[in-house]
Amino acid sequence: RRLHGGPPPRRPFSRLSSEDLAFFRETLPGGTVTDPDLLEASNVDWLKSVRGHSELMLRPQTTAQVSDILRYCHGRSLAVSPQGGNTGLVGGGVPVYDEIILSTALMDQVLGFDQVSGILTCQAGCVLESLSRYLEDRDFIMPLDLGSKGSCHVGGNVATNAGGLRLLRYGSLRGTVLGLEVVLADGRVLDCLATLRKDNTGYDLKQLFIGSEGTLGVITAVSVLCPRKPSAVNVAFLGCETFDQLLGTFRLSKRMLGEILSAFEFLDAACMGLLNTHLKLPNPISDCPFYVLVETSGSDAAHDEEKLHRFLEEAMTSSLVTDGTVATEDAKVKALWSLRERVTEALTHDGFTYKYDVSLPVERIYQLVTAMRTHLGGRARSVVGYGHVGDGNLHLNVTSPARDPALLAAIEPFVYEWTAGCRGSVSAEHGLGLKKRNFIYYSKPRAAVGLMGDIKTLLDPKGILNPYKTLPDDLL
Ligand code: FAD
Ligand code: MLT
Ligand code: ZN
Repeated sequence: RRLHGGPPPRRPFSRLSSEDLAFFRETLPGGTVTDPDLLEASNVDWLKSVRGHSELMLRPQTTAQVSDILRYCHGRSLAVSPQGGNTGLVGGGVPVYDEIILSTALMDQVLGFDQVSGILTCQAGCVLESLSRYLEDRDFIMPLDLGSKGSCHVGGNVATNAGGLRLLRYGSLRGTVLGLEVVLADGRVLDCLATLRKDNTGYDLKQLFIGSEGTLGVITAVSVLCPRKPSAVNVAFLGCETFDQLLGTFRLSKRMLGEILSAFEFLDAACMGLLNTHLKLPNPISDCPFYVLVETSGSDAAHDEEKLHRFLEEAMTSSLVTDGTVATEDAKVKALWSLRERVTEALTHDGFTYKYDVSLPVERIYQLVTAMRTHLGGRARSVVGYGHVGDGNLHLNVTSPARDPALLAAIEPFVYEWTAGCRGSVSAEHGLGLKKRNFIYYSKPRAAVGLMGDIKTLLDPKGILNPYKTLPDDLL
């Protein structure tokens, strides 16, 4: 049987009974949602590309309640789909059939913040932007930032090992998350909520749950190492004639900006067209085939500005960059960032979006966009490329007026074969969820996938946690 992205048949989990409902109502007074209108938004993903049919959403406030829920579901073989802000892009956070939605929306308390070490401890349902605001008031920032910050939860960020716009500077959550509290499938609470920079006491179990997409446990609390808020931030938005020149600009930025370089992002002219057309965002510089957003963050405004200007002068005189604009004041910095952050939103107005999120050797990332355009000819409405150049992470997106199975068959497996041909990853930062689970073999050897299956069986022997996600169908 050929593996694909569509849902596999429903597994033989129990169906929700009136006794189950009575138990949940008693365990979670006010935290049990059964109204179909209220459930609608949580049954459909952000992209409106997959839909489940859950009849129950549970909104616990405490770890003890999550533990009670899972112990009960485990005993009854009821399947559960953990959900944070529901901004995931691979269909991982919504039920496939009638799984109970376990939402962290009411688990939104900051548990502590150490001003000396910069270590924040909070519940999993804290919204990323709220945490950023909390920290900025104290002169710190979160080590990650995503375009979905207004909705995504930190528990969802950890569960997906989200990358985003600051990874180049602060590294991945695998380094900045210091501790986790997780409830296992049978209700056991694993308290690994350490707030230590160093801890080599055996296996680092928290790493198993970072990026596990709700399949191994429910993350209930997180401790994160947060950097100081930089006192000087500059953003340059630049235009390049060719992708080679863009890569040259990246090399130059690393050489000349060094320790103050905090982001190097790109979008192509097709993205700019979508921003102009669908969101009415004007291009602040002259039209170019490629645009880059370079950010510096440091502690000495005069020093950073001088460095940035020397870099820009060199980039212009060596013809790497053809036009550009620079911002230091907050409003303009935000406006330039929105040109990069809002491409995802612009795409949703262009039609049905086929999304690919691949890691490739950085010098090859745009070749895939060009190859896809040639391969599809005129069959797509738009084929666009943008992403995190600094991380070798391309977002290749293809749109069509409506869902189009023939177009999908032309894109896949072409995109995965091309990526595997470069020893790339078919999911750089979004995870596998429902949509990408069966393509894991393009990037991981069978032995590794088999071991993932063994871990899943050990931690969730009945398979109740986020079934049909992350692990390929032929494993189970
Ligand atoms: P959800 O979508 O609710 O869930 C995602 C997955 O995590 C699901 O599998 C779910 O079951 C699981 N999960 C959620 N909470 C828990 C928990 N407490 N315990 C266990 N499992 C849990 N992603 C990036 O990596 N980089 C980006 O730059 C980026 N930008 C984005 C921009 C936009 C506009 C949008 C819409 C999305 C973007 N994303 C990005 C994708 C998405 O925002 C991230 O994957 C985010 O981390 C998901 O968080 P969430 O709370 O919305 O999780
Ligand atoms: C981004 O970098 O903008 C996000 O990962 C979202 C996307 O891929 O569209
Ligand atoms: Zn991204």
